[in-house]
Amino acid sequence: MARAMTDDPFRLFDAWYDEAKASEPNDPNAMALATVDSAGQPSVRMVLLKGHGADGFVFYTNRDSRKAADLAAVPRAGLLFHWKSLRRQVRVEGPVTWASDAESDAYFASRGRDSQLGAWASDQSRPLDARATFEDRFAAARARFEGGAVPRPPHWGGYRVAPERIEFWQDRAHRLHERRLFVRSGDSWNEGYLYP
Ligand SMILES: Cc1cc2nc3c(=O)[nH]c(=O)nc-3n(C[C@H](O)[C@H](O)[C@H](O)COP(=O)(O)O)c2cc1C
Repeated sequence: MARAMTDDPFRLFDAWYDEAKASEPNDPNAMALATVDSAGQPSVRMVLLKGHGADGFVFYTNRDSRKAADLAAVPRAGLLFHWKSLRRQVRVEGPVTWASDAESDAYFASRGRDSQLGAWASDQSRPLDARATFEDRFAAARARFEGGAVPRPPHWGGYRVAPERIEFWQDRAHRLHERRLFVRSGDSWNEGYLYP
């Protein structure tokens, strides 16, 4: 399996991601995020990829949420992209850190105002007695920031998954699927193929 690297996994990811943007009917940046809690219980949910590069894959969320509690206890995650129209998946695994305040501020500032207000109104992952409570909180946030910029809430920000493994899976005829695995070794990557 260990061979000299023949390609850069980030270049391959970019090529597949560009194709997914062209072919997926919606949300080519949607990815499943798997975390584990302190008791070892895994859980998974969808989030949106909002930035990526050699240093990792970034998503934004509420830092009081269930996934945030998992990541505080076990700061590692798995990501999965499934681009159905291309019959491809990409798996990413590695340690997770917070994005910097400057990075989270910049992304928050780029969001629509309603999304910004929603971040103030949402107590993500907490029980909600009635939908109206959320709407009331949204209205209160709107009134609070009336006429000015909406700052990033202290409980909202980015997380970066720094990949140690990236696996590309491509459907092939007769179920002879192709799996290409990149494993980080220091600053470089070892590449190999896996049996489907
Ligand atoms: C396609 C899709 C994209 C989503 N993107 C995000 C996201 O980027 N950030 C986020 O906090 N929740 C996102 N959600 C909602 C999450 O799946 C989840 O319901 C929420 O974050 C609470 O998860 P938790 O209770 O495990 O923390 C998305 C849901 C879907 C279906």
